[in-house]
Amino acid sequence: MEHDLDDGRQDFLLTIGPGGPAMHRFVQEELQATLDVEHVERFGQARFFFSASIHPIERFFRLRSPEKLYAVVLRQNALELPPWPDEREAAEEQLARQVASRGAWTDALRAWQRFGREGVQSFRVTAKRAGKLAAHLSSNGIAEFVGEALAEAMGWTVDLHDYDLEVMIHLNDEHLIACLPLLERSCQQAQLPFPGLSQPVAWAMARTVEPSPGDLVLDPMCGSGILLLEAAQCWPGAFYLGLDDDPKQLERSRKNSAVLEAAPCASLSFGRSDARRLPLKSSSVDAVLCDLPFGKQYGSEEDNLALYPAVLAEFWRVLRLGTGRAALLTNQANSKTLIQAMAGRWHVECQRKVLLGNMEALLFLATPVETDGASSGYPAKHAKQGCRLPWEDATGRRQWSAMKATLRPPLRLVTGGKKCRRGLPRRRATAAVAPPPRPGLSGRHPTGPAASSGVPRDTPPVAG
Ligand SMILES: C[S@@+](CC[C@H](N)C(=O)[O-])C[C@H]1O[C@@H](n2cnc3c(N)ncnc32)[C@H](O)[C@@H]1O
Repeated sequence: MEHDLDDGRQDFLLTIGPGGPAMHRFVQEELQATLDVEHVERFGQARFFFSASIHPIERFFRLRSPEKLYAVVLRQNALELPPWPDEREAAEEQLARQVASRGAWTDALRAWQRFGREGVQSFRVTAKRAGKLAAHLSSNGIAEFVGEALAEAMGWTVDLHDYDLEVMIHLNDEHLIACLPLLERSCQQAQLPFPGLSQPVAWAMARTVEPSPGDLVLDPMCGSGILLLEAAQCWPGAFYLGLDDDPKQLERSRKNSAVLEAAPCASLSFGRSDARRLPLKSSSVDAVLCDLPFGKQYGSEEDNLALYPAVLAEFWRVLRLGTGRAALLTNQANSKTLIQAMAGRWHVECQRKVLLGNMEALLFLATPVETDGASSGYPAKHAKQGCRLPWEDATGRRQWSAMKATLRPPLRLVTGGKKCRRGLPRRRATAAVAPPPRPGLSGRHPTGPAASSGVPRDTPPVAG
């Protein structure tokens, strides 16, 4: 793992958000094209190890796929580690010695400095343990012992809040990793704890209405909020309002939104309302995103015969004529009901088939119009099925993850301790029904079971 000090090579770990095989391919292609990386090792769904020259450093900031980039200090196969002593503290101490003495600290610190840092005086250790092999070790204990060992070996001071350098330790049944966070995405893509609509489909719907800065984007039946959370990551300049008539669903939305990192994401609020009577002024909304009930989990196909016309009339009322647009999703069984509900007052620019698991659904891009035939597009009943969305290329859905990656805000230096955080805006928690106050994501809080030498934790562990 140690390299010749002059060749400028360094081992890196990058983590990505959810995306599946298309995203994995994109990571490989991007690393090869941007950093000339020939060999990439993937672990699980979200972690990639590779080695690259650190020169020139600007290339790393151009990467679109990572959520975070780390300089790897140590990576050892868990099965090749010496057996852990039965006694917890003895095992944690053994691990700490391993990390402090065996890691490629000189290389990794040199890389860390190349990313614009000055020397290290203070540091903290964050640890995460998982798996069965070392089940008797604790994350706190690991962080404490590694902190002590490094303080002694390097002469640094532990400062849990105001640190220059963060050292992350990750121990599971596959490997022991020690790494230094270098770059991160300001608004991190995450696996949301409360699932709902498929995240790639939700992103595609958001891409279809393409929110502009300052736009008010409404999801009137937001469920667990996936549509707005996907939109907010790529178009953070808009204001997002999620409504639902089920308080349990709203709770899921709020918990999901808490998973995104606090830094400069979009303004997002959730509130309770019936989509048939929206608490919004006419012509006040720029875009509607809506995954309509299919009548399976919520209501029935029969209920939808009354529900769809009622909600479509409200969407029409609140959208701005001329610029307002809607991305609406339903399944094949309800598509006739939706098409009938749009008749006369909507023009459908595009009607695209999308698979949700095994179920075929239809995504409509529609705009409200004063009278049938008055503007571009065509009435829903004539819209061609299966056409590509306006922004898609011939590869279709296979490219969605890569497209999403290129639209997200660029990587930035990791902001660790208070020293780095000073001056960054604080987000405000909101839960209003009115259009969201600017700015603020609701209910954010630190995440993850990581331990930082037994103290408050505000940096997520290595994703996985
Ligand atoms: C298909 S789900 C939306 C799923 C959502 N896109 C997600 O990813 O979780 C439909 C949502 O509509 C809500 N709903 C049903 N009837 C409603 C109504 N009249 N007003 C507001 N919300 C309603 C349900 O509570 C449910 O959360």
